[in-house]
Amino acid sequence: MISKFIIKDIGLSIGRYGFGCAASGGHGWGEDTGQLAVEAIRVAFDNGIDFFDTSDIYGLGVSEERLYSALGDDRHKVVIATKGGMYRDQAQGRSVRDCSKKRLTSAVEYSLKRLRLETIPLYYAHWPDKISTIEEIMGTLMGLRQEGKIQAIGLSNFSPEDVSRACKIGPVAAVQARLNLLMLDNAHNYLKLCQEHGIIFVAWGGLCDGLLTGKYGIKAKFSTTDHRSRAPHFQGRALIRNLEIVQQLGEVSKRLRVPLSSLALRALVHMYEKVCVLFGAKTPEQALQNCQDLNVPLSQDVIARVRSILYL
Ligand SMILES: NC(=O)c1ccc[n+]([C@@H]2O[C@H](COP(=O)([O-])OP(=O)(O)OC[C@H]3O[C@@H](n4cnc5c(N)ncnc54)[C@H](OP(=O)(O)O)[C@@H]3O)[C@@H](O)[C@H]2O)c1
Repeated sequence: MISKFIIKDIGLSIGRYGFGCAASGGHGWGEDTGQLAVEAIRVAFDNGIDFFDTSDIYGLGVSEERLYSALGDDRHKVVIATKGGMYRDQAQGRSVRDCSKKRLTSAVEYSLKRLRLETIPLYYAHWPDKISTIEEIMGTLMGLRQEGKIQAIGLSNFSPEDVSRACKIGPVAAVQARLNLLMLDNAHNYLKLCQEHGIIFVAWGGLCDGLLTGKYGIKAKFSTTDHRSRAPHFQGRALIRNLEIVQQLGEVSKRLRVPLSSLALRALVHMYEKVCVLFGAKTPEQALQNCQDLNVPLSQDVIARVRSILYL
């Protein structure tokens, strides 16, 4: 099994797992765990995670600040990825996508300050917007790279067609889209393309917003400020289907004596050789559970059982 990826252009390597700092921003995920969220990041680092993913929109900068606070000087020993191209419209109470040159150029400056970095190793345009073409966005990112503000370019949530067009303009090092054991469609959508262009596929939501930890049941309830209160995978028939799978995966994890979260992350990287998977955690305990045995190979029998549970 591949154990490392080399990021195109910058030659830095990352392992198969990255720690995602979306919930670390303390907004949109129910209760903010504050200092515990910072400690969770540190636990991931202490347990060998060498790739940390954040965005300026996570907690409106709080996630980037906490990432710095957790890693301190050790931030230079890992690869940090952040994203720009979204802002909060406070009057309307919603996030707006904007990958214009003006927005991305100023967003990078703020991210550099919050992360206390001279250059950002991997920088993504976060979501496609309605006003910028992929050619314009790539032009901006290439400019930032030339100026040394960022080192490698990433595209997050862009369609495979956009990624193909982007590759004609300049080197795309990483593509990010949702992928986890309960949502596998994007594997087919992106993996061939990533292989062709030497792009790392970074899977977000590796634990399906916590469903793949086994902690949520049919009565899962979230506050209205938690994005999961509106997520389709936590509702109706989709939730019933997801819980059936989670229950069967839970039996496999019990037999192996590992947390379900660890099994879910390991099975994904075993099944998809070219994927680096992101997972989040709000407390040190969660982070420790998720990191357990991450690099211990799963047997063929276990993978076969997981595949059959997923009807693959
Ligand atoms: N590019 C994008 O648009 C995009 C979008 C989303 C995410 N991402 C990236 O992907 C990363 C990973 O995804 P994610 O953080 O959204 O979700 P995730 O990894 O699927 O789920 C993380 C959440 O699950 C719960 N959890 C984690 N470990 C647990 C454990 N051991 N026991 C019990 N509960 C546990 C925690 O929330 P509770 O305790 O509240 O349940 C935690 O915040 C993000 O942090 C971000 O970096 C990118």
